[in-house]
Amino acid sequence: MNVLVVGAGGREHALAWKASQSTQVETVFVAPGNPGTAAESGCQNVDIRVDDFTALANFAVSNDVELTIVGPEGPLVAGIRDFFDARGLRCFAPSQQAAQLEGSKAFSKEFLSRHNIPTGRYETFSSLADAERYIHAEGAPIVIKADGLAAGKGVVVAATVDEAVDAARSMLSGERFGDAGKEIVVEEFLAGEEASFIVVSDGEVALPFASSQDHKARDVGDTGPNTGGMGAYSPAPVVSDDIHQQIMATIIDPTIQGMDADGIRYQGFLYAGLMIDNEGVAKVIEFNCRFGDPEAQPVMMRLESDLVELCQRALDTELSTVELSFSEEVALGVVLASGGYPGDYKTGHEIRGLVQHMDGTKLFHAGTRADEARILTAGGRVLCVVGMGGSVGEAQARAYRRVEGIEWKDMFYRRDIGYRAVQRETVEP
Ligand code: AMP
Ligand code: GLY
Repeated sequence: MNVLVVGAGGREHALAWKASQSTQVETVFVAPGNPGTAAESGCQNVDIRVDDFTALANFAVSNDVELTIVGPEGPLVAGIRDFFDARGLRCFAPSQQAAQLEGSKAFSKEFLSRHNIPTGRYETFSSLADAERYIHAEGAPIVIKADGLAAGKGVVVAATVDEAVDAARSMLSGERFGDAGKEIVVEEFLAGEEASFIVVSDGEVALPFASSQDHKARDVGDTGPNTGGMGAYSPAPVVSDDIHQQIMATIIDPTIQGMDADGIRYQGFLYAGLMIDNEGVAKVIEFNCRFGDPEAQPVMMRLESDLVELCQRALDTELSTVELSFSEEVALGVVLASGGYPGDYKTGHEIRGLVQHMDGTKLFHAGTRADEARILTAGGRVLCVVGMGGSVGEAQARAYRRVEGIEWKDMFYRRDIGYRAVQRETVEP
């Protein structure tokens, strides 16, 4: 059979690479893909944009595509699943209604509180005067979030009341995120350690992937501006067996069942961004209706089960009979970014050092493009280099050794990906 992966980033490279290993699969088409997916054996790029549903569906029909897997949130929130369903095509993705868990923070917060799923206290506002009153009453630190999609940048963790009011004003005026900020959520600041908990759901049952943790802040020690993610590793030691069970029982299962009770079947990947406090209690910071990026890169490296089979079984509501298996090894991915990201940056720089091979590592492309034989930078997050190892330290050392051979003008990356897990390893060997 043939498979179509929709998207062009590092996550889609990882999903396509993994899908291409399935014994059932002949060709994995990637729309539009990137030079990394183009070079993957068994994969082939197709020049169709992720939001051109008609062209994607037509391509699936004329190329014997039996399964489409969707990477990014844009087409999910815009209803690609419903569009494919209407054409009688199998598409593993949440429906437009289900994707509101990511597409609208107001929807997801309201859903969480109605179903008693642990999350920070909050209020939703469209009037600045009301938001200001609430912010003054609650005090700082406090968190201001644009309601709609804002490419991972619609959140301000404000240290002072003034900063919070400024953020609320710039969002509500529409100047900061356009319509996505016309409604805001003002949320209690949650302290603790973050973890990404990603599951695959068939609408009734959810199976967890191996736990992971990403580094959203740009700079060393998780400081500086928020980004789409500067690196990630799996497993996340903060998610102990007890905490894992607690997350399934208090967050994941009630979410899938709550959606079902509300008449919305959640079929697809579901990503819960969690804060785990000092007492080991997990609360939801956000939901994403997709796999994480860069979490997908290390998690797909550890996944031993057949990804295509998994998506097929989920579409057939058969996950209760499936078990996932993961390598015991640690996988750790370092994102190489364009200087200036997440702000303005230049593209078009030639990347050197891509063709080296190193055991226990794999390189995933994200923002790259081919120019004849050369590979050029074409985005903020450009590459993700993953190392595997028996410990976090070993996986980290391998990843950084491979990174050393890669360069372009203004390349930058964090040198401390996985530092919390490495600390845990040294303190609790
Ligand atoms: P989000 O886009 O909702 O994932 O938020 C981006 C980042 O902001 C998260 O990864 C957290 O680091 C931080 N954040 C969001 N909400 C909160 C909160 N209620 N308390 C503390 N940090 C938060
Ligand atoms: N790594 C964060 C995200 O995918 O949203």
